Amino acid sequence: MKIVVAGATGALGSCVMDAVRIAGHEPVPISRSSGVDLMTGAGLAPALAGATAVIDASATSTTSTKQFVDFFGTVTRNLLAAERAAEVPHHVAISIIGAAKVNANYYAGKAAQEQILQAVGGGWSLLRTTQFHDFAKQLVGHGKVGPWQVVPTMRSQPIAATEVATELVAIACGEPRGLEPDLAGPREENMADLVRRYLAAIGRSRPVIQVPLPGAWGRSMRDGTLLPARGTRRARVTFDEWLTTQSGPTS
Ligand SMILES: NC(=O)c1ccc[n+]([C@@H]2O[C@H](COP(=O)([O-])OP(=O)(O)OC[C@H]3O[C@@H](n4cnc5c(N)ncnc54)[C@H](OP(=O)(O)O)[C@@H]3O)[C@@H](O)[C@H]2O)c1
Repeated sequence: MKIVVAGATGALGSCVMDAVRIAGHEPVPISRSSGVDLMTGAGLAPALAGATAVIDASATSTTSTKQFVDFFGTVTRNLLAAERAAEVPHHVAISIIGAAKVNANYYAGKAAQEQILQAVGGGWSLLRTTQFHDFAKQLVGHGKVGPWQVVPTMRSQPIAATEVATELVAIACGEPRGLEPDLAGPREENMADLVRRYLAAIGRSRPVIQVPLPGAWGRSMRDGTLLPARGTRRARVTFDEWLTTQSGPTS
């Protein structure tokens, strides 16, 4: 089975590439470095030829709500149109637990992506998960201010991207089912604490400062909106187990 992985070089996409191979299928990577631009559609048609599913693990980093909405909206529309033209029967997307409710900042982009899919009759599956363990690492990449590491005040129940990837590949190998049951990490954590543990694991010591972010986006990080509902399926790999796979300074 040929499975296209959009965002193949990212935190999730690289795990999806591995998971596709482990499942015995052929992954086709999509990212700008492989010559495909999901925003313009350049290179998309040949990449999709003969595919049975597309797993969309693409993302962008910006601080603009408008750009998040533009990115996730445009990418989703471009992929769906190219899949229709290439007769790819299954589009698999990933979103974040609570994001559509919040509908602000990054989550406005995820809400737009979800709305576009839900307006399409069929042919798609959507899995919502909590933040990945990599989220702490991604914050370290962005939040260094002078000698400090600034982290949003945030409650999260993070999950290993490897487990999410395995789940997405299993979904891609089945029939399109619309909204899948949510999947969360094994336990609730505090984001500043995770960042401290990540910095220690890569041999960095830097004061970590927790900052409550303003607006609906920041509030949702603090008030539990991003946590899974009671009874949500839980993955197995803890943050500390994931930490043992991380090494070396990042910045
Ligand atoms: N991170 C989390 O904690 C988390 C939690 C739950 C769900 N999710 C969702 O999981 C998905 C992946 O997130 P991530 O954190 O793994 O993303 P990421 O590490 O930022 O990776 C983004 C990927 O998208 C590609 N990309 C960006 N712009 C592109 C373009 N114009 N054309 C083609 N490829 C492009 C990047 O490659 P190039 O830059 O080389 O093009 C990269 O491969 C997103 O939908 C995100 O909302 C993330």
